[in-house]
Amino acid sequence: MKFRWVILGAGIIAEKFADAVRRIDGCEVIAVGSRSPERAAAFAEKNGIPLACSYEEALALKPDAAYIAATTDLHAPLTRLCIDHGVPVLCEKAMFTSSAEAEELFALAKEKGVFAMEAMWSRFLPTNIEMKKALDAGVIGDVRYAEFAIGWQAPQGGRTRFYDKALGGGASYDVLVYCYELAEFYLGVPEAVENVTVCWADTGVDETETITLRYPGCLVTLSASLAVNLEERAVLVGTRGTLRMPKPHFSGAYTLTLNDGTQTAWQDEVTENGFVYEAEEVVRCVRAGLLESPVVPHALTIRCAKIFDRINAAK
Ligand SMILES: NC(=O)c1ccc[n+]([C@@H]2O[C@H](COP(=O)([O-])OP(=O)(O)OC[C@H]3O[C@@H](n4cnc5c(N)ncnc54)[C@H](OP(=O)(O)O)[C@@H]3O)[C@@H](O)[C@H]2O)c1
Repeated sequence: MKFRWVILGAGIIAEKFADAVRRIDGCEVIAVGSRSPERAAAFAEKNGIPLACSYEEALALKPDAAYIAATTDLHAPLTRLCIDHGVPVLCEKAMFTSSAEAEELFALAKEKGVFAMEAMWSRFLPTNIEMKKALDAGVIGDVRYAEFAIGWQAPQGGRTRFYDKALGGGASYDVLVYCYELAEFYLGVPEAVENVTVCWADTGVDETETITLRYPGCLVTLSASLAVNLEERAVLVGTRGTLRMPKPHFSGAYTLTLNDGTQTAWQDEVTENGFVYEAEEVVRCVRAGLLESPVVPHALTIRCAKIFDRINAAK
């Protein structure tokens, strides 16, 4: 029996997900839902999906799971709609815009027995998994400092999903979410979140921010921006050496530099579409009857949303 997906939101990233599903044996996309019939029809035609319809019509098909790829403002309402239909949900990052939203909807999902997961695909990428193994094996000794920086010059100003507050714009929802959820992936839950410093855009969204995470004997800086192209990186510095990964949200490589100057590199030679892994995780969890993924648990998404609360309160 095939695992039947529907996609909600017929935009750019939904195409990458449709391609990922095509690459997985035993999976198919049976419908795409959109607010625009024209957008849904064009998307279905381009991606070989048999049905173009509304969100509600897609969920009424009782699919095995729904992937939410609409703008961030719609993530919570669409997650609720999926839960109401009893449909397991994988929702694009940032899944929620506040911790209140996250706590309420995850509680509802648990109460109704519906699987729910934020689409933090980077946590499944072989490069991040391999670098974490190296870290855990102690190759760089004790980590005393780390940086996670992700930022790019998004289309500037006005009514884009990046800068429009009504669409859930802002650097925190778009890119800081990766920095935090990868920092936790490598180092676990911080003992404190400090120095939440934000630069606001004229449109009212957070445009650039830096945050410090405190761990025992270790400080971690998170930097995110929609204004300029940052040198996107994860850098973990330990007592014996340094692990470096460019663009850790989608990277295919990392390097290890020991304090004596010795360097080794690791390259992902297999991944063609990194969304495959998160989709496979949903299939595995749903078939196992789990309500959340151990790789992207609800508590992680909630802790990250608490940082969004701090950013929004900083205005
Ligand atoms: N995981 C990743 O690597 C990755 C990369 C990029 C984006 N994302 C996430 O994916 C989500 C969608 O991003 P995207 O780049 O695919 O966005 P997009 O193509 O601009 O839009 C996606 C959908 O959002 C709705 N939408 C877009 N603009 C709108 C507007 N002006 N007014 C009302 N609705 C609008 C439409 O939904 P309908 O078709 O349903 O009407 C559209 O199909 C975001 O949450 C983003 O953070 C993830």
